[in-house]
Amino acid sequence: MKRYHVTTFGCQMNEHDSERIKGMLETLGYREADSREAADLILFNTCSIRERADSRFLAHLGAAKRVKQERPETVIGVGGCWAQSVKEEVFRRFPFVDVAFGPGQVHKLAEFLTSDSLSAQGYFEFEGFAGHLPARRERPHQGWLQISVGCNCRCAYCIVPSTRGREVSRPLEELVAEAQRMAAEGVKEVTLLGQNVNSYGRDLRDSSGSPRRFSELLRALDAVEGIERIRYTSPHPKDMREDVIRAHAECRHLCEHIHLPLQSGSSRILKAMRRTYDRERYLDRVALIREHVADIALTTDIIVGFPGESERDFEETLEVVDAVGFDGAFTFIFSPRRGTEAAQMNDSFVAHEVKVQRMERLVALVQRRAQERAQRFVGRELEVLVEGPSRTDPTRLRGRTRHNKVVNFSGLASAGELTRVRIHSATSQTLSGEELLLARANPAG
Ligand code: SAH
Ligand code: SF4
Ligand code: F3S
Repeated sequence: MKRYHVTTFGCQMNEHDSERIKGMLETLGYREADSREAADLILFNTCSIRERADSRFLAHLGAAKRVKQERPETVIGVGGCWAQSVKEEVFRRFPFVDVAFGPGQVHKLAEFLTSDSLSAQGYFEFEGFAGHLPARRERPHQGWLQISVGCNCRCAYCIVPSTRGREVSRPLEELVAEAQRMAAEGVKEVTLLGQNVNSYGRDLRDSSGSPRRFSELLRALDAVEGIERIRYTSPHPKDMREDVIRAHAECRHLCEHIHLPLQSGSSRILKAMRRTYDRERYLDRVALIREHVADIALTTDIIVGFPGESERDFEETLEVVDAVGFDGAFTFIFSPRRGTEAAQMNDSFVAHEVKVQRMERLVALVQRRAQERAQRFVGRELEVLVEGPSRTDPTRLRGRTRHNKVVNFSGLASAGELTRVRIHSATSQTLSGEELLLARANPAG
């Protein structure tokens, strides 16, 4: 029996694709190896979003090279966004790589592995979604649903449009059928994936010839029996229209959490980033969201040190972060990416130490606001989807609320169960509490 080892870098889209890669390999008779040394096939699903992503991957690739020196019959494959961005060059730079493939070519791996002559090959044209391939889920009760691929935006800093191509949506009926299959397999929580989920459907038509809408998809999935929770990532503020926000108020299974990437609080920098919204429009979206779902959790992505970001621009980001009060944020220092518009801009305007200091100031504010926001959960009883034992204390359990907060709690529930937990305390990152065992004894009541 042949064994495989997959290392995944990057976003949920890659996690999704890796689950499909594993599912497909298992269909071909492969089984997972405990380590790279024990594998006949070593795969990397790569990311190129920031320079650090590249360097982390290249360090791992060096380890795979050493395995291949020991056992030359080992097959090494590189997929994902880094592979797509360098294409055939991968074989010149790393001659020990046997196969390279882009995000739209996951299924080609099977073709390569089952062909008679394994000579180095690359597959980079977008051909189809990995969504129809079999999946081997990391958590049986949580599933990804890839609703679209690609991105038609042109954010000046971002490499994704060049690695994932133009946006293509999957037909609504196909997605509903996949969600039904997932529910039948025991999935309770689905996360809809796309680079820009809420522009879903512009390239599709319903029976009367009108474009499909993201809110329509949300409503259709809300009706799928057995799916208890629906999440999505990431929406774009420019497409966060009222119909999507209304769906949050009206769809029972749609969770009270929106990850709404801000990137910067300065309209001037947003313009240079080509984000196509300004600070007012972002704040207006937040106000509309809170008008419909007052208790919603909001998280975001922010870049500091974009070329030309002045102290005043940065302060405007702090002002927006303070005004919104995010429940959490991913913060990044700008990283110039090959082929992007921002990589051509003069990046010497802000010294690296200043960027690091801005990052620290931003993180301190994000955490303070997240900590303050989290106090609203103390004393409440929340629905929690159990993930398994707590990472810090194995005698306790870990799960997630609908607001996407991690909860560590004492109780008796098993992974995959939905239960109720009373929250006793909250930090910026996690909640702590106790399972309501009486509610468990009588779940219907
Ligand atoms: N499609 C999603 C996610 C894109 S990548 C979206 O539009 O929201 C995730 C985050 O990485 C981005 O939101 C951005 O904050 C950050 N990012 C992307 N390119 C970057 C770069 N060149 N330097 C620093 N951060 C970057
Ligand atoms: Fe990148 Fe912008 Fe597209 Fe997101 S919306 S993937 S940040 S280009
Ligand atoms: Fe990385 Fe590609 Fe995702 S660059 S963040 S793996 S879309």
